[in-house]
Amino acid sequence: MAHHSPANVPAADPTKPVHIVFVGAGAVGCFYASRLHYPDHNIHVSLIGRSNYAALAKDGVQLQTRSFGNYVFHPHAVYPSANAAGGVPNSSTSSDVPPPPPGGWDYVVVTTKALPDRVDDSATIAPLVGPKSTIVLIQNGVGVEAPYRARFPDTTIISGVTIISAEQVKPGVIRQNRWTRLHIGPYTTSAESSSSSASPPSASVDPNSALTKRGTEATERLTDWWTRLGGIRDIDPLDEVGLQTVRWHKLCINAAFNPSAVLSGGRGNADMASDPEMRIHLRAIMDEIWAAAPRILGRPFPSELATPDKILASTDRNKGARPSMLLDWEAGRPLELEVIVGNPVRIARARGVELPRMQSLYALLRSAQSVREQKQKEAKGKL
Ligand SMILES: NC(=O)c1ccc[n+]([C@@H]2O[C@H](COP(=O)([O-])OP(=O)(O)OC[C@H]3O[C@@H](n4cnc5c(N)ncnc54)[C@H](OP(=O)(O)O)[C@@H]3O)[C@@H](O)[C@H]2O)c1
Repeated sequence: MAHHSPANVPAADPTKPVHIVFVGAGAVGCFYASRLHYPDHNIHVSLIGRSNYAALAKDGVQLQTRSFGNYVFHPHAVYPSANAAGGVPNSSTSSDVPPPPPGGWDYVVVTTKALPDRVDDSATIAPLVGPKSTIVLIQNGVGVEAPYRARFPDTTIISGVTIISAEQVKPGVIRQNRWTRLHIGPYTTSAESSSSSASPPSASVDPNSALTKRGTEATERLTDWWTRLGGIRDIDPLDEVGLQTVRWHKLCINAAFNPSAVLSGGRGNADMASDPEMRIHLRAIMDEIWAAAPRILGRPFPSELATPDKILASTDRNKGARPSMLLDWEAGRPLELEVIVGNPVRIARARGVELPRMQSLYALLRSAQSVREQKQKEAKGKL
């Protein structure tokens, strides 16, 4: 896997402030934002809250972390919406809301749940994106970048995928239970070639393009800041195809366990893996992705990534873990099913690869979600 060295990356220019805004101030967003806000180095992080806006604006973010202890993160500014942070006139009724930075946002980091069937977050962030902005996406699944590339053809985009266990225990209070791993890398691929071209990214990504160069530089800068200033030890910068490889590898876990946890009636990962028939099913999903990803990406999984056997063995040890999709299902929230099962099926199909087990999961889960929503609507109608 091609790694870029973060060595010799200058810190922020002390005369030029760097302004970073996080859209999606939940578990992942608040944790990574809190490790990037270093006003002494002229790096200033702001948050956009939504249901937790009042708590964030009043007290900042309380962090309870396994990796860095407990601390309070006071962001540079807190906004009630992307429109307010983009300075859209009349977007905020409160006079306390600060104006956006005069030079615009240098980095717009998106850490919402990826729900492209519900909302186009590339449109949500449009007021924040200016000519010098870099968009950073830290979300699960594959194909999450395509709407952003389509809307912002010339904007630097960084794609990121994290292995962390974190939750917002109440508004403005974030608990990080374990892990801090974040893979990041440039994303240049045109929307067309990312979703409908038969050629794999390894053939269509131009490593010498200006977008790749800008994306690689931004990846190195963020890696340096999160590592050297934020103290996170496992920020892992990759090249474009390498990053996509990690996204597909993470699907081996997320696509096997998350939909199955819902469809099996609400079971945790180790519990499912202890059921012999379920274990065959989980293993077969992983094997399906394992065999397909190199054909889709044009590059094999690197040897340091855990094989399905290793993933199952660590699942057996990690008793009690319940995937986020199951928590979302139980709370009646929409599921990240398009980016975790729908997009993989579609992207593979566009490259001539069928994922039959994934397709079954996708069809069943999408149906289960729509039946549930119909029932929720009917129940509301009866009130
Ligand atoms: N948590 C983990 O341990 C973990 C681990 C690995 C990967 N991930 C991935 O990381 C991503 C983020 O997950 P998360 O757990 O951090 O989710 P989360 O805690 O639910 O946070 C998402 C936040 O985004 C906010 N939001 C959504 N749309 C918004 C908008 N238009 N404007 C402002 N705020 C908006 C939500 O606000 P509301 O409260 O108003 O809805 C919520 O606070 C997902 O793709 C997830 O799969 C999470």
